[in-house]
Amino acid sequence: MDDQLALPVGTTLDRFIMRKQEEFPFASGELSQLLRDIALATKIVNREINRAGLLGVTGTFGQQNVQGEEQQKLDVIANIRFIRALRNGGEVCTIISEEEEGIIQTGNTKGKYVVAMDPLDGSSNIDVNVAIGTIFSIYRRLSDNGEDGTLEDCLQDGTKQVAAGYIIYGSSTMLVYTTGCGVNGFTYEPSLGEFFLSHPNIKTPQDGKIYSCNEGNVNSFPDGIKAYLNYCKEQHYSARYIGSLVADFHRNLLKGGVYLYPPTAKSPNGKLRLVYECNALAMIIEQAGGKATDGSERILDKTPTELHQRCPLVIGSPDMVDKVEEFLAAEFVAV
Ligand code: AHG
Ligand code: MN
Ligand code: MN
Repeated sequence: MDDQLALPVGTTLDRFIMRKQEEFPFASGELSQLLRDIALATKIVNREINRAGLLGVTGTFGQQNVQGEEQQKLDVIANIRFIRALRNGGEVCTIISEEEEGIIQTGNTKGKYVVAMDPLDGSSNIDVNVAIGTIFSIYRRLSDNGEDGTLEDCLQDGTKQVAAGYIIYGSSTMLVYTTGCGVNGFTYEPSLGEFFLSHPNIKTPQDGKIYSCNEGNVNSFPDGIKAYLNYCKEQHYSARYIGSLVADFHRNLLKGGVYLYPPTAKSPNGKLRLVYECNALAMIIEQAGGKATDGSERILDKTPTELHQRCPLVIGSPDMVDKVEEFLAAEFVAV
């Protein structure tokens, strides 16, 4: 069905969203509107990122977020812009953001959806003009309509996502998302202020030759990961690590590869956050034919217990993720 209704490259995001909605005759259009709200906030954030050096919004904000990380000015700006767009849109009752400790009530108590987001991913790259991103997950609320959303609404398994996506602010700006029927990528044309379908029905290669991790931490990686990295070198794979999850993920999605953020001495559960980083990318990679695990368990099957909980991540081409798991399993047999 998807193939017959495939829309041509060059279709605008608005039209694409509308046509996809028509495939579900009883859809109310609220999810479509929510996706449009995210696209609007993206355009605003994109403008601020592009002009950051001129607007004086590079550098630190002077406060730490809930994880004790130094907030950058653009982290704060992106957070405000996305929350404002979601609040104004009206479809979302509750938001979870990397930049806010608790759940955020929009006041739209009739909103059917919950959004979890990393408003700006790769903050350490903002000031040096390297690709950064935004990550979002959309869930249907579990609580009764007409009330504020609850913590339970926000701590759903990744399998419950109704949509997930990311924006990469790179050499061009792209929005990539899935509603569970494949993955599509849209490139932003700034002079027209429009996203156009540029990467229809993205599938990740079954296998790849790129591995991405912060190898500076190798001494405190699990032995299985150390052994896997040696294997990568024996195979003459390429090491590619930008330090912005979205950008590293996007490259590997298109070219084939594996991204790893294993446990380290500093971050015993890895550094990345399950609810607003790992789950969204896990849904996308699976929809594109890839895999995402924490080294043994499927990311989407994990039940979050805390908003900001961290989780190790191995994500990418399915054969490469399997190989990492083989090395990790061998480590435990050897012990
Ligand atoms: P954020 O900027 O949202 O805090 O995320 C940063 C993350 C992720 O984007 C990236 O892959 C990772 O941190 C890099 O961590 P290291 O500097 O430890 O490699
Ligand atoms: Mn991040
Ligand atoms: Mn962030």
